[in-house]
Parts: sequence; structure tokens; C-alpha cells
Amino acid sequence: MSALPVEPVPLSSTVLEQLWAAARAAHARAYAPYSRYAVGAAIVDEHGQVHAGCNVENAAYPQGWCAEASALSALVLSGARQVRGVLVVGTGGAWITPCGGCRQKLREFGEPDMPIVSATVEALGPVYSLEQLLPHSFGPDHLRKP
Ligand code: THU
Repeated sequence: MSALPVEPVPLSSTVLEQLWAAARAAHARAYAPYSRYAVGAAIVDEHGQVHAGCNVENAAYPQGWCAEASALSALVLSGARQVRGVLVVGTGGAWITPCGGCRQKLREFGEPDMPIVSATVEALGPVYSLEQLLPHSFGPDHLRKP
């Protein structure tokens, strides 16, 4: 049996612009003095609200955290429980995609077809679904009793 790849659900141009603006603003405030790789992330919840976050590095390197984690914290604090779309602004080089740990964090609140948009401050890049970036994943369903 072969599963078809899950394509990302399209975001409206309005939501895309809102996410991009919020992620650019977060990117501008990132605290990344060690890597010099600023990241801004924005996520839209089930109410259409946008939540943003940036990476926050630390002199004790492993203690830093990613922009997506910051944005997810803001979403949960607001009372929302679903992620309907993600946009991440990186700092040049290859198109950014969420790190492995952040893919799993997003998996907690998103459906397989949730769109994840890669971007820079200057341009929008490729769009993936959560399933494309984290296939055959482990999630809350696995812990539900039958
Ligand atoms: N980073 C993020 O914030 N999100 C990602 O998806 C990839 C990496 C951060 C972590 C670190 O502060 C810097 O980018 C370089 O790895």
C-alpha cells in the first residue's frame, strides 16, 4: 500500500500577507548574537488570529530556542489550540524549513495538510504540508485509548 503525499491546504492571500508581515516583524527582533541567523515565525490559529515569535539564543548554546516554539507559546497562551498555517522567515542561504524538533512541536496542534511557508524578508518561497516535512509522525492520537 502506498500513501499519496498530502498537499498543503492553500492559504488566502490575505492570511499569507498577515503571516509574512508578522514573521518579518518578529525576525527583526530575533535575539541571535551567536549564530547571527535571525528567524521569525508566524502561525494562524483556528480563530484566524496570528501569533508570532522569534529565536532566542543563549550564551549556554543548547538553552536557546526556535522562533516556532516562541510563536506556539503565544498561541497556546491566547487560548487557541489549533495551528492552521505557519510561515517562517529565515536569513538568506537555503530556504528555511522548521527544524526537526519544531516539526514535532507543530504536529501537536496541526493537521497533516497544514501549510508551512518558507520565506525571507524579501521573498516568499516553497510551501510544504506538515505531512511532507514530518511523514509517518507520532501525535496525540497515538495516546488516545481505543
Ligand atoms: N532556528 C529557528 O528559530 N527555527 C528553525 O526552524 C531553524 C533554526 C534558529 C535556532 C538558532 O537560533 C538559529 O536559528 C540557527 O540555528
